[in-house]
Amino acid sequence: MNLILLGPPGAGKGTQAQRLVDRLKVPQISTGDLLRAAVREGTDLGKQAKEYMERGELVPDSIVVGMLEERIKADDCTPGCILDGFPRAVSQAEALAGVFSGLGRALDHVVSIEVPEEELVKRLTGRRSCPRCGAMFHVMFSPPKQEGVCDKCGGELITRADDNEETIRNRISVYREQTEPLKKFYQEKGLLRPVDGTGTPQEIEKKIAEVVGQ
Ligand code: AP5
Repeated sequence: MNLILLGPPGAGKGTQAQRLVDRLKVPQISTGDLLRAAVREGTDLGKQAKEYMERGELVPDSIVVGMLEERIKADDCTPGCILDGFPRAVSQAEALAGVFSGLGRALDHVVSIEVPEEELVKRLTGRRSCPRCGAMFHVMFSPPKQEGVCDKCGGELITRADDNEETIRNRISVYREQTEPLKKFYQEKGLLRPVDGTGTPQEIEKKIAEVVGQ
């Protein structure tokens, strides 16, 4: 199954992608994670992407699309994949359609996770993540057993550089302007599955399972 998780920053795309990986046994592809890894490693692409990410703006397609294409062509994606954070603009959706068509694959569902803005800000300002294993926590909603330490691997938890209120608000407005038009794009193709993203992660997981029929 090939599935896109669409939604504003903090909607819970990463949280639900990890649950879907366990359920569907296909990999998660997060362009945000791929870009953050490139920034950490100091690659040329990472150096170019860093300033856009720090401002909460979209990284240019010339950097992101090639990165995504290379990942999607890897063998582990043959049975399908869960796209988290891609596409984020109509130009990217069109590029993705070309990649899938070249591989003889098709998109099955676009799950759009809907969450009100003030809830997004609360979720993102309290997020803590483990750069070593990717586990995610929230200081109030899902705190780690020991403050600042990952329950899964013992790594040190960090606050993402773009999780400050000013950048969060900018990321949300970039989403509204550039990414939200994708809902109409996919609705016209009969692929859009809107899901109420408020409630516990378990409740949302159940709603997603219903709309994707798994
Ligand atoms: P990216 O890493 O994709 O970030 P994002 O879209 O802003 O989304 P987030 O990761 O912040 O949120 P999420 O929806 O995954 O929520 P999460 O599950 O973590 O992108 C970062 C940057 O990279 C972009 O700004 C851009 O610069 C660049 N970029 C990436 N892809 C790009 C592309 N395709 N093109 C161009 N540029 C690109 O949850 C958030 C918090 O809420 C966590 O603490 C979690 O524990 C908590 N939480 C989750 N669900 C619930 C719940 N139901 N109840 C309570 N708390 C919850």
